[in-house]
Amino acid sequence: VRRLTTSVAEVVHSEPEARWIVAHAAGLSPRSLVSVLDTAVSEQTSETAHLMARRRADGEPLQYILGTWSFRHLEVIVDSRALVPRPETEQVVEVALAEIRRRASGSGAVPTRPMVITDLGTGSGVIALSVALEMGDSVAAVWATDVSPAALDLARDNLAVLARSHPAAAARVHLAPGSWFDALPEDLMGQVQVVVANPPYVSAREWSGLDPVVRDYEPHSALVPGVTGLEAFEILIAQAHRWLVPGGGLVLEMAPHQAATLTAMAEGAGYGDVTVHGDLSGRPRVLVARSAHV
Ligand SMILES: C[S@@+](CC[C@H](N)C(=O)[O-])C[C@H]1O[C@@H](n2cnc3c(N)ncnc32)[C@H](O)[C@@H]1O
Repeated sequence: VRRLTTSVAEVVHSEPEARWIVAHAAGLSPRSLVSVLDTAVSEQTSETAHLMARRRADGEPLQYILGTWSFRHLEVIVDSRALVPRPETEQVVEVALAEIRRRASGSGAVPTRPMVITDLGTGSGVIALSVALEMGDSVAAVWATDVSPAALDLARDNLAVLARSHPAAAARVHLAPGSWFDALPEDLMGQVQVVVANPPYVSAREWSGLDPVVRDYEPHSALVPGVTGLEAFEILIAQAHRWLVPGGGLVLEMAPHQAATLTAMAEGAGYGDVTVHGDLSGRPRVLVARSAHV
């Protein structure tokens, strides 16, 4: 194991990534690798690890090569059908859960119907699945939508995995194809407690300067909504208040440099209590705006 890890590290130029690859090829967790360093590996493990290392050296994201990645309490399938879930999105879920709990506990307007949450642009499904899992039955339904059939397919696969371990949580998730709010059934209009989205927000110019590991492998439509990077926010902010209950929350992931623009956009559109929350490194990352027509 030690020798294999060293030779993989030489190919991928990273010790930690070599440990991930060897552990995955051997069917172990990266943490347990250290206790088997002097153990023999099978030819099959060695071959698999070297194939994975080659793909990584060619520039493919580690997560796509491993095929699964952890996100909060989930272990999700990740592949080129959708964006690799990012740690900052785990923080977006944290903010969304606080907003949902606030609604559930009756702060602001008291919910009179079972809570409905939406995750628009669900990709691998991580936000919707986390909300369904972590909120338990205080949430009645989580609508997860995406315009990309491939992404929705991946979300369906991840939902099937969740259904095996947590059938009740999985049963609360509804997948729907379509662009932003067009994907939702009309009878949800005015009924949604919290709208969460991590939409594409990279401008066309920023995209050309992105790290090739992102630019050349992750879906362009998951990253770039248009020339300015603000196009998806414009739609979400303009339309969310029609779908939210009075006082309901809109929770959006954004790039740190977009905070002032989006705050002004939300306030200009008539939302109240507009706040910005930081990611783990303290950079502005999540916008919360409440539908003001209470
Ligand atoms: C930044 S990714 C986020 C994926 C996932 N929610 C996450 O946080 O990892 C944006 C997602 O929005 C989807 N998307 C792009 N345009 C859309 C549209 N018009 N309507 C719905 N979803 C869209 C993309 O397919 C992609 O899955």
